[in-house]
Amino acid sequence: MAATDQGMKRVWEDSFAEQIAIQAYNTAPAEAVIRTVSYYLRDRAEQGAGAQGMRFLEMGCGAGPNLLWLAQKGIIVSGVDVAPTALRLAQETLERNGFGKQIGTLLEASVTSVPLPDASFDGIIESCVFQHLARADREAAFREVGRLLKPGGVFVGYMLDAGHTVYRMKQKDELADDPGTLVLQDGKSKVYLTNIGVSHFYRREEYDRLLAGFRVIDPCLTTYYIPKAEAQKRGYPEYQQSMWTVYAVK
Ligand SMILES: C[S@@+](CC[C@H](N)C(=O)[O-])C[C@H]1O[C@@H](n2cnc3c(N)ncnc32)[C@H](O)[C@@H]1O
Repeated sequence: MAATDQGMKRVWEDSFAEQIAIQAYNTAPAEAVIRTVSYYLRDRAEQGAGAQGMRFLEMGCGAGPNLLWLAQKGIIVSGVDVAPTALRLAQETLERNGFGKQIGTLLEASVTSVPLPDASFDGIIESCVFQHLARADREAAFREVGRLLKPGGVFVGYMLDAGHTVYRMKQKDELADDPGTLVLQDGKSKVYLTNIGVSHFYRREEYDRLLAGFRVIDPCLTTYYIPKAEAQKRGYPEYQQSMWTVYAVK
């Protein structure tokens, strides 16, 4: 692993240690991701093709809630993550729920360089991972998506948008050589986005470049406010989440 990946591994291992200690690691599938995958699977079903036996990869799988949802559809699921704790939790989640046999592989690796063969997957998802990559890593991660997908394969990603409160309030601090990127360190807790370091807030036009060559590139925006008490806890008077759900077909 490259030195930057080692740094990332430390940040995320610390985050998981804290999340486990307060029983706060994510066990819920990302609604926008699974809704979009559901549309895709429904289209396939209407054309007579089931989900059974399809192969999906989650890049930065965390504790595995999205993998579990996919496995429940009959899909063979694989995950890569820099944090060994995440992979252990994902394995436990899948096995505890009776889906151990549907694990393809769970690998410690960076999304920037996935040691798996070209065209291995029918689908790739990511949720809140590509938003924490510096520019060269973002470009590498999207290249990996293109490499690892079969022709006709689907990508669904969920990542920060430039309309997000944190970006709107801190835009003056964005990196001069990488607009849209903030390096955030508001406090010690690694549970919050604003302490995790690099956060990139995407703009619509970036996807056309990052996914060049894809047949379909269709990013959809979701915005919502979190409760005021939680916003204030994070140091903001109000807090609007603004997120891209990127649907793309190779
Ligand atoms: C916010 S969590 C999201 C986890 C999961 N996708 C979910 O929706 O529950 C980010 C995850 O990405 C992983 N991660 C961060 N940077 C990574 C990288 N460069 N390569 C692989 N995994 C990474 C972290 O270890 C963590 O598990």
